Amino acid sequence: MSRTILVTGGAGHVGSHIIEQLIQKNPEDKIISLDNYFNGSKNNHISRAEYREGHTKDIDKLIPETPDIVFHLGEYARIAPSFDDIEQVFDMNTIGTFAVVEFCKKRKVSKLVYAASSTKFATNGEERFANPYSFTKANNVDLINNYGKWCKKMSNPDFEFNYAICYFYNAFGPREKGEGKYSTLIAKFQQLYLENKSFTVNKPGTQKRNFTYVGDLAQGMILAAEKGNGDGYTLNNTKAYSIIEIAQSFGGPIEYKDGYPGRQDSGDTPIQDKARTELGWKTTIDIIDYIKDFVAKHPRQK
Ligand SMILES: NC(=O)c1ccc[n+]([C@@H]2O[C@H](COP(=O)([O-])OP(=O)(O)OC[C@H]3O[C@@H](n4cnc5c(N)ncnc54)[C@H](O)[C@@H]3O)[C@@H](O)[C@H]2O)c1
Repeated sequence: MSRTILVTGGAGHVGSHIIEQLIQKNPEDKIISLDNYFNGSKNNHISRAEYREGHTKDIDKLIPETPDIVFHLGEYARIAPSFDDIEQVFDMNTIGTFAVVEFCKKRKVSKLVYAASSTKFATNGEERFANPYSFTKANNVDLINNYGKWCKKMSNPDFEFNYAICYFYNAFGPREKGEGKYSTLIAKFQQLYLENKSFTVNKPGTQKRNFTYVGDLAQGMILAAEKGNGDGYTLNNTKAYSIIEIAQSFGGPIEYKDGYPGRQDSGDTPIQDKARTELGWKTTIDIIDYIKDFVAKHPRQK
């Protein structure tokens, strides 16, 4: 039976991989993306999906269909620039996500799958207060976890709010942005490598990240839609690497600079295995192998 599936942020990095995998898995499904193109790109469009342009706060108007599943990724998604972009962060993440949750209630959507941020766990849980991005993402987790209970006290108490919350750790892989304010580290380093430039590392460079392959994140979200229930699906490559190690695996040289380094360590986060044990999720590609492969395909001119 064909389903209608909505992916918010479908023109973004991870969202485009979810759409790609959904279409491969079941070509009969109708896949709709809702994206405001704040950071999305038409280059990320996947054929056979339908793309609507707009903000999630207008979801009710822009999506007249009743989707069976909503994958919610359409939010402001970067840490360091979120200080300067604070108004957009609250508009896109807080106002937008409230509208998405309300939409699920009104349309009796069978499952909401949310792309949460693992920053919530870092620095013994203090990181959720460290920047506007992490703050809004962690608040949205609280909203989703409590909304079902509130629904019972609203005028439509029969609605069962089914959801699954997945936590992403730094995504890498095809369609990642290497340039501009919202670029991400691995694509930026690939760009620097190709331009034969030094790798700029925010001091101290010992900060670690659990880089996780974008296709694996997408797969985790799809499994969570099928079998997940509630909070706690951490989608992480359990091995964390420092930014220095990442730069070195490209072959260096490194240029250190003052900049916002983010949390010091994400390797010490509580590694929950719900995704692996309940969903049967696993990672397929390690970041160091991905970089080695990239370097082998693009030998530097001596
Ligand atoms: N990439 C990561 O490492 C990472 C880590 C933790 C959590 N996440 C979360 O995963 C999701 C996807 O991240 P990504 O790296 O693919 O980011 P991305 O910026 O590439 O994708 C997000 C997409 O959502 C769109 N968007 C933003 N706000 C919107 C709104 N209010 N209405 C409609 N569209 C909107 C953007 O234009 C973009 O296309 C985000 O919610 C992000 O917070 C990502």
